[in-house]
Amino acid sequence: MSYLGLLDKYGSLLDLPAHTRPVSLLEGNTPLIPAENLARHLGGDFELYVKFEGLNPTGSFKDRGMTAAVSEALGRGAKTVICASTGNTAASAAAYAARAGLKSIVLIPQGKVAAGKLAGAIAYGAQVIQIDGSFDDALTMVVDISNKYPICLVNSINPYRIEGQKTGAFEICDTLGSAPDWLCLPVGNAGNITAYWAGFKQYDDLKSCGKPQVLGVQAAGAAPLVLGHPVEKPETVATAIRIGKPARGEQALEAAEESKGRIIAVSDDEILAMQRLLAKLEGIWVEPASAAGLAGLAHEIAAGKFHAPGRRIVAICTGHGLKDPDIITYGMEKPRIVAPKLEALEEIILA
Ligand code: F0G
Repeated sequence: MSYLGLLDKYGSLLDLPAHTRPVSLLEGNTPLIPAENLARHLGGDFELYVKFEGLNPTGSFKDRGMTAAVSEALGRGAKTVICASTGNTAASAAAYAARAGLKSIVLIPQGKVAAGKLAGAIAYGAQVIQIDGSFDDALTMVVDISNKYPICLVNSINPYRIEGQKTGAFEICDTLGSAPDWLCLPVGNAGNITAYWAGFKQYDDLKSCGKPQVLGVQAAGAAPLVLGHPVEKPETVATAIRIGKPARGEQALEAAEESKGRIIAVSDDEILAMQRLLAKLEGIWVEPASAAGLAGLAHEIAAGKFHAPGRRIVAICTGHGLKDPDIITYGMEKPRIVAPKLEALEEIILA
């Protein structure tokens, strides 16, 4: 049977109202790619898999939650959706709204959104508004305006976003036959870690497939959950997770605690090094924030804090490298220019 998207496949397991009218771009069903080269490089005696969420229709995991949130909004008769975003939510909201025939408004922190995300939001026809402030400021604004006007908020405060994002956990268990031993993933506004943990718990209740320990990873310059307090001026090269007051911070901490996992922080250098390593060793190019989960795993292994011989580890790589094309070439030499002659080419590649 052909694949018809997440609400078709897992809708019966999601807590969505009866009025929901499915809007789908056939999101989900992303590959769980074995990463043997990287596992070997990390020196670990474990099986490592990358859930490549960059292969969703708008290039990030946000499409899982957005199909649910926009389907509910459409069924309820909403005409407009709104979100604050570091970029990926904006592109996803805009695409699903376009498909549903709804207006979308997205608020982004000025100058801090990667090119591919901004371009997406514009291409899908969103009204894009830059805020002279942070993501956290933008989130406060969209919460306030959606309380005042009949505009549907599609940030992950919206419970249907979490419902949709649970499907990532279902897919992993369906592919592996059971839950992995560890799950590592980046943490920004903390919706995804909340959704994965809820999804694994639900699937375990249903199918006794077990639950992973969860390693949530923040960027050191935007690590409120590690520091234990909000960060007023978050800064990181991983702009997707440049968030100082995560809306679902409490639930993220609960997920880490209940799963006997933890939330840690890694430096921008560690994030960028992992982004390059994953691309070079496995042919998987992800945006910086998406490499944070694996950077956290590498950090823990290097610090001697991670022992999982023979275990299965899944890293959620949340967004595609194409979203943020400039960062990967930053500080690198420009490709050489040669004359259009065979000898010129030989001179270089045989050197
Ligand atoms: N990875 C990527 C690529 C993201 O875009 C985000 C969040 C995260 C990880 C963190 O997920 O917020 O659920 O903890 N991006 C949001 C956005 C904030 O606006 O696109 P989270």
